[in-house]
Amino acid sequence: MKGIILAGGSGTRLHPLTLVVSKQLLPIYDKPMVYYPLSVLMQAGIKEVLLISTPSDIHNFERLLGDGSKFGIRIEYKVQPSPDGLAQAFILGADFIGDDSVALVLGDNIFHGAGFSDLLERAVQKVEKDHVAVVFGNYVKDPERYGVATFNKQGNVRSIEEKPENPNSNYAVVGLYFYPNSVIKIAKGLQPSKRGELEITAVNQYYLKEECLDMQILSRGFAWLDTGTHEALTEATEFVKAVEKRTGLKISCLEEIALMQKWISPEELQLQVKDLKGDYYDYIKQVVLRIKK
Ligand code: G1P
Repeated sequence: MKGIILAGGSGTRLHPLTLVVSKQLLPIYDKPMVYYPLSVLMQAGIKEVLLISTPSDIHNFERLLGDGSKFGIRIEYKVQPSPDGLAQAFILGADFIGDDSVALVLGDNIFHGAGFSDLLERAVQKVEKDHVAVVFGNYVKDPERYGVATFNKQGNVRSIEEKPENPNSNYAVVGLYFYPNSVIKIAKGLQPSKRGELEITAVNQYYLKEECLDMQILSRGFAWLDTGTHEALTEATEFVKAVEKRTGLKISCLEEIALMQKWISPEELQLQVKDLKGDYYDYIKQVVLRIKK
């Protein structure tokens, strides 16, 4: 399976913060925002990633993440000339995806919770074995801001709607989607919505109609964090800081994940961070020492 991170958009709700810096490069406590969604793909076992961003921001992502080899993965880059919707990612990424299945994660979505890696690995397996789409729902207090799913008595998804004015449920569809290869064709056949975008919700509605949509509910206590407003951005930082301080373990440390996946060796990582300073790299040095013991 391949992975796509969509890190486009103009971030107008966060101006002036995002006038000259991409939203997905803003700090969430001790690392840039894009580290969090990239960590999700890596935890899913995905080693080939396409990062899509705006013409003016793409180079900064490239400067930050390079070709991915420092994390034991391969990262390619693609420009989205204008923000024409999330589903455009599959059209822009068609060559990159090739004949493979694909996961899409939004560059501003942050996830943290117990058992997440297992959940991700199961999603990948389900898509590859059963050729169905796998999406996730999370209970929120403001569902009107998201794609919203409703369920029938048996607990199966009945409908998915994009930002309904009067939502019939509190379950938001989170910004992490797993699809079989057919998603490319489906995206190419979409018409722009009223707001002029190729909607990811329209893709999900297609799979739902075909009875090929699996929705998993993220359990209570699982953290799906939003970064859309100044308030939400600060809260995300406070959340990561609180968890990291209490446990002494970092959330979404890409080098640590690469090490756990055995995509880089402790020796390689030790060499990589030898001359790097600061709290983030001190943490990695400790992780390496611990693993070598
Ligand atoms: C997008 C999707 C929406 C989804 C949300 C998750 O919203 O359109 O269905 O629930 O991401 O973050 P947007 O970022 O376009 O407001």
